[in-house]
Amino acid sequence: EIMGQSHRRLLLVSLSVLLLTATPVAADSTLTQRSAIAADQRLVSPGDVFQLGLFPVANGTKWFLGIWFTVSPAAVIWVANRDRPLNASSSGILALSGRGDLVLLDAARDNETVWSSNSSSATVAQLRDNGNLVLADAAGAVVWQSFEHPTNTFVAEMRCGKDLRTGALWALSSWRGADDPSPGDFRYVMDTSSGSPELHVWGKGRKTYRTGPWNGMRFSGIPEMTAFEDMFEFRFTNTTDEVSYVFRDRAGSPVSRVVLNETGVMQRMVWDQAAVTWSVFWSGPRDQCDRYGLCGAFGVCNVVDAVVCGCVRGFRPSSPAEWRMRNASGGCARSTPLQCGLGGGDGFYALRGVKLPETHGSSVDASASLEECGRRCLANCSCTAYAASDIRGGGGGSGCIQWFGELMDTRFVDGGQDLFVRLAMSDLDTTKSKKFLTVIAAVIAGFALLLLSLSFLIWRKFQRRRMGGQIESLVHSPCLMTS
Ligand SMILES: *[C@@H]1O[C@H](CO)[C@@H](O)[C@H](O)[C@H]1NC(C)=O
Ligand SMILES: *[C@@H]1O[C@H](CO)[C@@H](O)[C@H](O)[C@H]1NC(C)=O
Ligand SMILES: *[C@@H]1O[C@H](CO)[C@@H](O)[C@H](O)[C@H]1NC(C)=O
Ligand SMILES: *[C@@H]1O[C@H](CO)[C@@H](O)[C@H](O)[C@H]1NC(C)=O
Ligand SMILES: *[C@@H]1O[C@H](CO)[C@@H](O)[C@H](O)[C@H]1NC(C)=O
Ligand SMILES: *[C@@H]1O[C@H](CO)[C@@H](O)[C@H](O)[C@H]1NC(C)=O
Ligand SMILES: *[C@@H]1O[C@H](CO)[C@@H](O)[C@H](O)[C@H]1NC(C)=O
Ligand SMILES: *[C@@H]1O[C@H](CO)[C@@H](O)[C@H](O)[C@H]1NC(C)=O
Repeated sequence: EIMGQSHRRLLLVSLSVLLLTATPVAADSTLTQRSAIAADQRLVSPGDVFQLGLFPVANGTKWFLGIWFTVSPAAVIWVANRDRPLNASSSGILALSGRGDLVLLDAARDNETVWSSNSSSATVAQLRDNGNLVLADAAGAVVWQSFEHPTNTFVAEMRCGKDLRTGALWALSSWRGADDPSPGDFRYVMDTSSGSPELHVWGKGRKTYRTGPWNGMRFSGIPEMTAFEDMFEFRFTNTTDEVSYVFRDRAGSPVSRVVLNETGVMQRMVWDQAAVTWSVFWSGPRDQCDRYGLCGAFGVCNVVDAVVCGCVRGFRPSSPAEWRMRNASGGCARSTPLQCGLGGGDGFYALRGVKLPETHGSSVDASASLEECGRRCLANCSCTAYAASDIRGGGGGSGCIQWFGELMDTRFVDGGQDLFVRLAMSDLDTTKSKKFLTVIAAVIAGFALLLLSLSFLIWRKFQRRRMGGQIESLVHSPCLMTS
């Protein structure tokens, strides 16, 4: 019996040793003052969806503090010390300082601060199940959160945009390389300079891609978003306080992330539990027509054409020689100057099914109707085009965007919108009068044919009658009678 008891005790001891060695991580979601995590310890969100800890890159020669999906540790959604790696995981210490900021210390360098949240009065740090690392003060108020300091990834519930009160920008910056999370060449930023904000990718000082403005349902340049609506709920906020875009997972949807990758491509990836891999649902820019400014001002890109760039009706290439060499970036120039109320006046050409042009320098009135929008545009000589700002409710949409200068980066896209481009009436008329002329020509031809056949008939009748008369006269000829 004594033997059995000691055996059992030994088993328990070895079991607990096993358990201890098997779970070296601090499986806790919170960190308080007076506590720290080091080396291979981690914070784990309450539902074990996300983990926070040190991860290696470049064969373990550099270590970074980051947050990743538990199901896919390689999918890092946030990095703290992007510019200042640790040389070894063993030297890292994460602690809440007495000052109230979260700090990453390097023990190999006399506990030098490698990264700080720069916050004050935080008494607790918690990693939440949405992947947000939140610092709160003693009263429970949030004083800092990782969601407001994005790196290269958006996840559900994370805002992308701008706080107009504080000027804080919630933007993405790509990694420099697969082995280097320091800020790379590309940024994904909300452009709030017009009444109709849109998201832009910038690379090496140049705009490379734009999503198009929000049209009430989706970004004008990404009609595919409609196809994911069963999985995600998209929300766009435009108030005097903030301009932001956020998506939420619908109940039962797999986890997902949106990444700005090192080559400047936005990728929406969804976790495929069965295949144990990330599946790319969408990426942008998706083709050459998405390349910002490819066809220049007043150009329009059509990916199904052999030569993708063309000019909007009423415009022709500014530099035909360059266009022939497939450089359309110089754009197009107006064939006939606008009349602005003089002469024959101006009208609008409906360019159907497009990604709306860049909204920079446009104005928005969400309460105007589309008809009113057209009237306003026509009444203001500097207005070059207009479109509905909200396509919800169908019937051509409502609200009013007016453009006052060049129309930049327009393309045809499946599920695109209608853009009404201002042209001198004579440029619109050419099509109308051509049609009119063809109709007239057809009518004249028809008449001519009718006349011809009629006169032929008359001639035949007349001919027949004459022939008949001859025969008659022959019959009645006294000579014939006699012979
Ligand atoms: C990592 O190690 C592999 C194999 O040892 C080597 O081929 C590779 O070049 C190393 N990568 C870096 C970034 O050092
Ligand atoms: C970390 O590595 C870099 C490059 O190898 C070296 O310059 C630096 O002194 C190292 N830092 C520490 C604290 O060992
Ligand atoms: C660095 O900080 C850790 C944790 O706060 C502490 O245990 C250690 O003694 C410190 N080391 C030095 C050199 O101050
Ligand atoms: C904290 O402040 C330092 C010094 O001003 C700065 O370099 C660092 O980027 C800041 N950290 C964060 C997370 O904002
Ligand atoms: C966005 O908000 C601004 C300021 O409140 C407003 O002027 C603008 O019309 C709004 N844009 C849209 C598309 O609703
Ligand atoms: C970025 O995404 C594009 C499109 O999915 C892909 O072709 C490319 O290889 C990616 N680049 C990197 C560095 O992952
Ligand atoms: C294309 O045309 C633009 C302006 O028309 C010019 O500035 C640019 O240098 C040209 N690019 C190439 C590659 O020729
Ligand atoms: C035309 O629109 C521009 C830009 O919004 C504005 O500055 C200008 O005052 C308008 N002109 C008229 C006559 O309304």
